[in-house]
Parts: sequence; C-alpha cells; structure tokens
Amino acid sequence: MILTITLNPSIDRRYTLEQFEKGEIFRAGDVQYTPGGKGLNVTRVIQSFQEPVIATGFLGGFSGKYILNELNKAGIDHNFIPINGETRSCLAIISDDGIQTEILESGPIINEEEMVRFKSLYKSFIKDYDIIVASGSLPRGLHADMYKELIRIGKTQGKRFILDSSGEALEYGIEASPFLVKPNKEELENLMERAINSEKDIIDGANYILNKGVNIVVVSLGKDGSMVFHENKIYRVRVPKIKAINPVGSGDAMIAGFAISLIRDYDFQHMLKFAAACGTANAMEAETGKVDRDNVKNIMNKIIVEEI
Ligand SMILES: Nc1ncnc2c1ncn2[C@@H]1O[C@H](COP(=O)(O)OP(=O)(O)OP(=O)(O)O)[C@@H](O)[C@H]1O
Ligand SMILES: [Mg+2]
Repeated sequence: MILTITLNPSIDRRYTLEQFEKGEIFRAGDVQYTPGGKGLNVTRVIQSFQEPVIATGFLGGFSGKYILNELNKAGIDHNFIPINGETRSCLAIISDDGIQTEILESGPIINEEEMVRFKSLYKSFIKDYDIIVASGSLPRGLHADMYKELIRIGKTQGKRFILDSSGEALEYGIEASPFLVKPNKEELENLMERAINSEKDIIDGANYILNKGVNIVVVSLGKDGSMVFHENKIYRVRVPKIKAINPVGSGDAMIAGFAISLIRDYDFQHMLKFAAACGTANAMEAETGKVDRDNVKNIMNKIIVEEI
C-alpha cells in the first residue's frame, strides 16, 4: 500500500475570467475548488488506478474541513494531523487569452506540538505501507531537514521513499538517500546552483544526486520527456507531441506512475513508459492531478525509451 505525505495542502481555487487586470472589478464565470498540494494530486492519480493509498499531513481550520470533506466524497483514505492554523488557499486566475496568474499563500505555521504529533503518527503507522511519497514544499515552522528525517525513519523500516520537492527540503532530503527523486530542470538548477543547458549538465546533476545513494533519479523535462538514471545506466524517455491543456501537476501524475509501478513490481522499462504516460495524460486534462486510464495506455505505445 502507498502512503502520500502532503505537509502543506491547499484549496486550489480556479477562476475563469474574460479578462484580468490590476485595479478593476471582475466577475468570475466558472469557479472551481479542488483539494490541492502536490501530494494530494499524486493521491488522486494513484486512486484513479484503483491502487490502495492513504494521504497524511496537516490540515486546519475551515479550509482543512473542506478538504477532509472532499477527500471523503472522493473515497480517499486519509489520516491528517489537525492543526490550529488555517490550511492555505492557492488561487489561479485564467483569462480568456489563456494567460494564467497565480497567487500562492505560504500557509499556516506548524507548531512544535503539531510536528511532534505528526512524527509519532508517522512512526507508528508506516509499518503498513510499502511505498512512501512526499511531495511539495514544507510549511513554515518545520525545519528544512523534515523530509530527511522522515526518509531516515522510513528506511529503518525498509520502506521505499519517493521525494519530489525543491530548494532546501530537496537538498537536505537527498542526504538521507531516498529511493527515487524527480527534480524538473528548474529544481535541478537550484540544487546545482547553476544553469542546466545541455544533456551533459543534466547528467552531471543526476550524478551528484546518485552519489548521495539515491537509487533512481528522474529529471523531468516537460514536453521533452525525461532522463532517468539507475544502476549506471541512463535512459532517454521521449513522449509524443500532444495538445497540452493544463500541464500543471504532470510531475505529480508522473510520481503517481512511479509509485504504482513500484508497488506492482513492473519491469523497469514498463515503469518508465507508464510513469511518463501518466505525466503526459495529465497535461491533456483541464483538471490538475487527473489522468484518463485509456489515454495512458494509448500514450504508452507512443513513448520511446532508449538507453544512452
Ligand atoms: N506538454 C507536455 N507534453 C507531453 N508530455 C508532458 C508535457 N508536460 C509534461 N509531460 C510529461 O509529464 C512529465 C512531468 O512533467 P514536468 O517535467 O513538467 O513536471 P513538473 O515540472 O514536476 O510538473 P509539476 O510540478 O507541475 O507537477 C514529463 O516528463 C512528461 O512525461
Ligand atoms: Mg514538480
């Protein structure tokens, strides 16, 4: 069974407007609220393949209640630590010209007691899960080595840990040698503190992470597919050209694909195709963290994996 960790979830609000400018009043036509935060996107995609999954993290206030209610409605299992603060909202404004403006709240501050409660919950219940996925940024109040500690605890119990984060959280996280990490180009640039312009730059960055004892490094490159590094081999994964509708969350869908593949023991090449196809299928949907299963099958047939 898969456990997903979303330490800083949000209600993602999407407003569709005819136009959008500063200093004016606008009336939103179509409004959508979805439980968000990268880990919850991953959870939804895993659940759509009917693979057992449970979501954990922190939830608080009115927004926290709303998310719990939505998870219940969607039949998603969860075990979140309640907090005093208010779970954040993230706002995306999409105007008719297709331009998207985003406003992201930083979210509540987690206090010491809430952090301790989370860690003790985590320690006591991870024994039932084989794969642990942690996604996204850390909320304020937690130290940047939070994922590092969760990975260490997971590893002592023989769990395979997938980490999809950025900045300091990623930097610290890889020190504990998670099983799989998936930086995109920008995240790899931040980690390496230099521009990534060539295949060689990607390989250098991936080697840096592999040297930390990480088993599989996936560098995702949006419409250009991905490069995957495992056991001294390098794979180039090419994805078909598609009409992208909303590529946000494609990395999360890809992570879901890896988690499902690991739990189902797919062979390596099949895993690469399946995970990449999940990412591509997500880009073809308007909703974030949604894939169509038949579409994933179709895309898989068009993905080319070559060893370089
Ligand atoms: N426009 C696209 N066309 C085809 N495939 C795509 C496209 N965008 C993403 N993908 C697929 O999804 C994978 C992950 O996408 P990407 O590299 O954009 O992740 P990301 O930046 O982590 O996204 P996010 O953080 O928003 O979830 C890619 O490796 C590719 O397989
Ligand atoms: Mg990402």
